[in-house]
Amino acid sequence: MSDTSPIGVFDSGLGGLTVVQALQKLLPSESIIYFGDTARVPYGNKSKELIIEYSSEISGFLIKNDVKIIVVACNTASALALDTLTKNVSVPVSGVINPGAGEAIKVTLNKHIGMIGTVATVNSGAYENAIYDIDKSIIISTQACPLFVPLAEEGWLEGDVVEKIAAHYLTPLNEKKIDTLILGCTHYPLLKNVITNQVNEKTILIDSAEAVARKVQAQLSTLNLLNNGSQKGLLTCYVTDIPMRFETVGKRFLGSSLDNVQTVHAF
Ligand code: DGL
Repeated sequence: MSDTSPIGVFDSGLGGLTVVQALQKLLPSESIIYFGDTARVPYGNKSKELIIEYSSEISGFLIKNDVKIIVVACNTASALALDTLTKNVSVPVSGVINPGAGEAIKVTLNKHIGMIGTVATVNSGAYENAIYDIDKSIIISTQACPLFVPLAEEGWLEGDVVEKIAAHYLTPLNEKKIDTLILGCTHYPLLKNVITNQVNEKTILIDSAEAVARKVQAQLSTLNLLNNGSQKGLLTCYVTDIPMRFETVGKRFLGSSLDNVQTVHAF
């Protein structure tokens, strides 16, 4: 492993490509290996044991591919498996919860932050822990939005049905007068427009992708592992299944087309 080794990034599916996009923008010379567990998505309704098992398997695969850091680009896996991975894995591991929590604390004015995520992330209390570690006076209101992941995967990003679902999830948070809303799932940035329509005016949405990229940059810099070369890094994607409309959905998350995709079954 050296400074030219790739950054490993994984998610339950394709949502983590929103983090890849932010990494590519901030660190263009870094090569990235992305692993999307498309055969087993969603993680958000699975048990902690299974999420740890899947995350550990994927981390093992990434390490075999000589990554210099693992970015857990999934809030659910960050909430439930990050501690285990950090203990067991031989390279640094970076999650998405602390960067998102830190950003939200920076921008909230009324100190009332909302967080939306999968059932597993909400039930884990991971965002509350991360926020209280920094500022105990903040009020946090959370809401699980289980239908948002399939909507994002299906490309249902606007229209009456989506607006109604979003209103159903977000009205309780609006009533509590949050002024900042953490998008606590890497799929949710795709639904930003609908979410903006359904939250109180002036509510600031926190998409942690950029904050995650900045944290990875800082970690690599401290470890002297930043790739300072001038060549553009490569993106290689591994998935556990190529679902129907994979290209379209992948492009939606990454913002550009997905080349170099390989399927892995045993890892
Ligand atoms: N992208 C995952 C996250 O950030 C959610 C999708 C899932 O339920 O697997 O939590």
